[in-house]
Order: sequence, then structure tokens, then C-alpha cells
Amino acid sequence: MKIAIILGTRPEIIKMSPIIRECEKQGIEYYILHTGQHYSYEMDKIFFEQLKLPQAKYNLDVGSGPHGKQTAKMLSGIEEILMKDRPDVVFVQGDTNTVLAGTLAASKLQIKIGHVEAGLRSFDRAMPEETNRIIADHTSDYLFAPTETSRKYLLNEGISHDKIFVTGNTIVDAAYQNLEISKDGEDILKELGLTEKEYFAATAHRAENVDSRERLGGILNGFSQIYKEFGLPIIFPAHPRTVKMIGEFGLKLPEGTRLIEPLGYLEFLQLESGARLILTDSGGVQEEACILRVPCVTLRDNTERPETVDVGANLIAGCGEKIIDCAIKMIESDCEWENPYGNGNAAELTLRNTVTGHSIEFSKMES
Ligand code: UD1
Ligand code: UDP
Repeated sequence: MKIAIILGTRPEIIKMSPIIRECEKQGIEYYILHTGQHYSYEMDKIFFEQLKLPQAKYNLDVGSGPHGKQTAKMLSGIEEILMKDRPDVVFVQGDTNTVLAGTLAASKLQIKIGHVEAGLRSFDRAMPEETNRIIADHTSDYLFAPTETSRKYLLNEGISHDKIFVTGNTIVDAAYQNLEISKDGEDILKELGLTEKEYFAATAHRAENVDSRERLGGILNGFSQIYKEFGLPIIFPAHPRTVKMIGEFGLKLPEGTRLIEPLGYLEFLQLESGARLILTDSGGVQEEACILRVPCVTLRDNTERPETVDVGANLIAGCGEKIIDCAIKMIESDCEWENPYGNGNAAELTLRNTVTGHSIEFSKMES
């Protein structure tokens, strides 16, 4: 069996890394097709280096652009590669434009598709990611759902139960595999002059937040109130999109907020684990906070990760006055929740289910 692993952005590289490692371990034939949606060193190559991943066999270098143009370039580039280097299965992960293009190209060529992290729903069609994930789920042959909640959403949309495999999320594999490695590397807390549990970590990059002056301003105002309340710095490794928009809107960083370059995965895991609380609009960071047992406040009006809220690891604050209230509540948490995202063997299960066709799910595996 030959697998084409299609990826293009920071979270896809991180969440596909356990699958790539597992292909190597099991001697499964595969190649990486990188769309080039992310291309800056700190959004792309740093993860290949740190996670010791092989170079992509193909890189389309599509770069940034409006959704239609970006997706169209990827679609035509992916189609060409899949035609000349035809795999048995294409794997896509998550909900980006790379996923949309990958699934459309494979589907038209009648190549089987495995959707890693299937069945997430925010029920908010204003998010481009919601459209992408729905299309990916409805064109896929193997739907690797992280939890029973995701399975339920897929079944409710009429997707056949025999296509759905609850594997857990490969972010657990990635976090477990790399947290230990990160302890041997550079000490980011020392480098930034931070003391464990005496700072907050923050990220923001969602289009609906950072492309809106009001919402981005609301987030910064929330950081300001948090600093006034707790007197702890907010360390903010900002996505390039966010840095650009802070500049375009002429927003000022409040006292106590330290904007830094995006971090490599090993350093970011250290920053997350050592934080008193995490503030984020990222999907992956909500999951990691839950896995690492750090309380989380989500800077959005909804989440496609309701499991984190259900177990008590996360509160949904939006981008306004509720941020400070949610931070005050979450900081009191005993952090004793269960990790709902699996045992750290999602990659192994994903490949087993694909290669053998036997349905094995994480609830039935030993941790
Ligand atoms: C994309 C995904 C989003 C995902 C995020 C992960 C879509 C629709 N969005 O959002 O779901 O959560 O990746 O981080 O697929 N830029 C750089 N360097 C880079 C990449 C981007 O400077 O390497 C800047 C450019 O100004 C670009 C902007 O960021 O215009 C947005 O990049 P884009 O890939 O379109 O969307 P993301 O916000 O990164
Ligand atoms: N991440 C990182 N460095 C950073 C910020 C985030 O390595 O400075 C990692 C984080 O650990 C998580 C992933 O990037 O695994 C999340 O990506 P992002 O927030 O860009 O996208 P989303 O998960 O929202 O799609």
C-alpha cells in the first residue's frame, strides 16, 4: 500500500508527524506532499527539523492568497502529482484549505481518502474551516474521529458507521512523544526569564478574530485586564497574520503582554506546560492545554473541541468582557480532568485501520 500524506500548515505538520513516524516504523510506503500554504521558517521548516521528519517529496509552494486562488493552485498542483505518483490512499488532517484541495483532488481521481481528525464541528459556517471539514468528511472513505462526540456528529450527517474509526487525536501522540524530548533541549523559560506557573501563555490567529479590529482589540483588552488582576506577564508568540493585523489596525500592546516570534514545537510545549493558564483561539492549543493539564480560556464564541469544556479543562470566553471572568474561574481549577483525546496511539490505530481494514478503536486498546 502506498500513502500520500498531504499537509501544508503548522498544525498539520505537527499532527501528521506521528503518522509519518509510524509509517517509517512499520515500513509502509508513503510520501509527503507539502502544499506550501505555510512557508515562513518558524511556521514550517522548524517543525521538520525539530520533529526529524523527512523532506517533502513534493512542495507546491503555493504561499498565501485569497481562499479561491490559494485552493485552486493547490487543487491543480495536487491533481498533477496524484496522477503521476498515484497512491492507494491520500491522508489529510484537519480543516485547512490544504485539506479541502487534497480531498477534492483525490476524490475526482477516485483515490481513497483518510481524514485524520474527522467529525469536528463548530456549527459556525462563518468559519472557513467548518466548510473545509464538512467537505472533507463527506468525500472521505476512512474517517478517523478523535472522540465519540465526533463519531456522533458524523452519524447525524448520514455518514456510514463502517467508515468511522475512533482513534483518539494524533496531537496526544505528538505531545507525549515530544514533551520528553523537549526537556533535554533549550530551556525556553530560562531564555525568556520566566518562572513556572508565574506567567500566562497566549496565541491568537483565527481569521474571524485577528482580521476584526474590534475582536483583536477585545483580546488585547482582555490581556490588559488579566495583567491588572494577576500581575503575571502574558507571553504571546504571535502568528504572522496577527502581527500583520496588529500593525494594520495600529493597536498598542497592553502593559504585561510580551509579543514574541512563533516558537518551535519543543519550546512551545515547554511554554504551555509551564503556564499558569493558556488563552487561545487555536484548535490544537485547546487540545494540548487539556492534555498537559493546564487550564484554558478560549478566545472564541464557540469551539469544535467541546470535549475540553465537558471535562472542565476549558471555558469559552469570546473576545470581550468575559475573558477576565473566565480566567478568574479557570485559574482556580485543580486540573484533575480526564484527557478525552486518547492514549497517544492514534497514529498506530489510523494506520492499522487503513492497512488491515480491521476496526480497532482506542477505547479497546491498552494505554
Ligand atoms: C491557516 C488555516 C487555519 C489554521 C492555521 C494554522 C485555512 C483557511 N486556514 O490559517 O485553519 O488554523 O492555518 O496556523 O486554511 N503567513 C506568513 N507566513 C506563513 C504563513 C502565513 O507570513 O508561513 C501570513 C501571511 O500574511 C498570510 C497569513 O499569514 O496571508 C494567513 O495565512 P493562511 O495560510 O492564509 O491562513 P492562516 O491564518 O495561517
Ligand atoms: N504551536 C507552536 N508554536 C507556536 C504556537 C503554536 O509550535 O508558537 C503549535 C501548537 O503546539 C499546536 C499547533 O501549533 O500543536 C497549533 O497550530 P495553530 O494554532 O497554528 O493552528 P490550529 O490548531 O488552530 O489549526
